[in-house]
Amino acid sequence: MTRHRIALIPGDGIGAEVLPPAQQVLDAVGARHGIDFSYTSYDWSCERYVREGAMMPADGLDQLRDKDAILLGAVGYPGVPDHVSLWGLLIPIRRGFRQYVNLRPIRVFEGVDSPLRGAAAGAVDFVVVRENVEGEYSEIGGRLNRGTPEELAVQEAVFTRAGVTRVLDFAFELAARRGGTLTSATKSNGIVHTMPFWDELVAERAAAHPQVDWNQEHIDALAAKFVLDPARFDVVVASNLFGDILSDLAAAVAGSIGIAPAANLNPERDFPSMFEPVHGSAPDIAGRGVANPLGAIWSAAMMLDHLGHPEAAKDVTDAIAAVLAKTDVLTPDLGGGATTAEFTDKLLDLL
Ligand code: NAD
Ligand code: IPM
Ligand code: MN
Repeated sequence: MTRHRIALIPGDGIGAEVLPPAQQVLDAVGARHGIDFSYTSYDWSCERYVREGAMMPADGLDQLRDKDAILLGAVGYPGVPDHVSLWGLLIPIRRGFRQYVNLRPIRVFEGVDSPLRGAAAGAVDFVVVRENVEGEYSEIGGRLNRGTPEELAVQEAVFTRAGVTRVLDFAFELAARRGGTLTSATKSNGIVHTMPFWDELVAERAAAHPQVDWNQEHIDALAAKFVLDPARFDVVVASNLFGDILSDLAAAVAGSIGIAPAANLNPERDFPSMFEPVHGSAPDIAGRGVANPLGAIWSAAMMLDHLGHPEAAKDVTDAIAAVLAKTDVLTPDLGGGATTAEFTDKLLDLL
């Protein structure tokens, strides 16, 4: 019996609705593969902020440090400004635990209608590698002269040689393992200062990985190609903001943002990694019990893989594929009428 200590942070809105299904799936697959999970749940959320003035306690990261992994639902809710919820919880965990790779796979599954003509099941299968701790998401900057005609806002994007190089190496190695190609998202056509630097580092790391075919695309054109020809991509590496936008776009191309998973990885494993769906707290559907739990469940599968259980992870992704292909029990985002609980039960049957 292998034992893993898992931190659960359901968070806000549908975050709290999709995490219990992920936990049910982990327990079911764990029982079959001899994996025992011991969970610690944290109520860190916007509700906690309203009650206690902070998203998490001052020693929050210390409480998580000894865990093997973190499973998070989503944070952010109307009434609490997003900069509070994000800088108060999500971003400190990503940065404090040096989770500098955000891995976001995209697949069009059989049984899911992509809004795109020609995006057939099986043909679209790629992964966005998003730089997760620097770039455009910097703390350098601010707002001046609020409410006056002279008001201004400034934010410095920060790209470091070390920070870019390590995420590029991860992406090139992933492309090599997949036997695929690498596409770098850029904006080097004259306007942005940071991107020519990014491009130079891409060319440098490409030289160190000569077995990988690679190219670069301007982010605007790349967004169009995600829509026009998503099957051509294999590994797409992008800065923090570009990767954020591309991963929601890719999730929509694959039929629903409710399916897309994410792994915030600390490749050195000196701190826990964090697994969370790509989507947010979806206030527009929260409380109705109809959120698609697959993004959280697939994220849990990525966690299993990270913890050294690839067979258990595959059981979960196989069950996801099966529930989509073989049943008409689907949540509303996929065109069905099932609740989160009904959909999860069906998936558990198939697991
Ligand atoms: P969102 O992802 O929450 O919702 C976008 C749209 O997708 C909504 O119409 C929603 O109903 C739908 N959707 C999302 N997940 C779904 C699911 N599992 N099943 C069915 N439909 C789903 O994005 P938003 O509206 O821009 O953000 C809402 C809040 O979430 C904000 O406070 C934002 O900051 C936060 N957020 C948090 C995270 C995170 O914690 N990692 C990620 C994104 C957004
Ligand atoms: C995501 C989210 C976050 C991000 C927000 C909520 C800060 O959109 O995880 O994709 O941009 O990283
Ligand atoms: Mn996002």
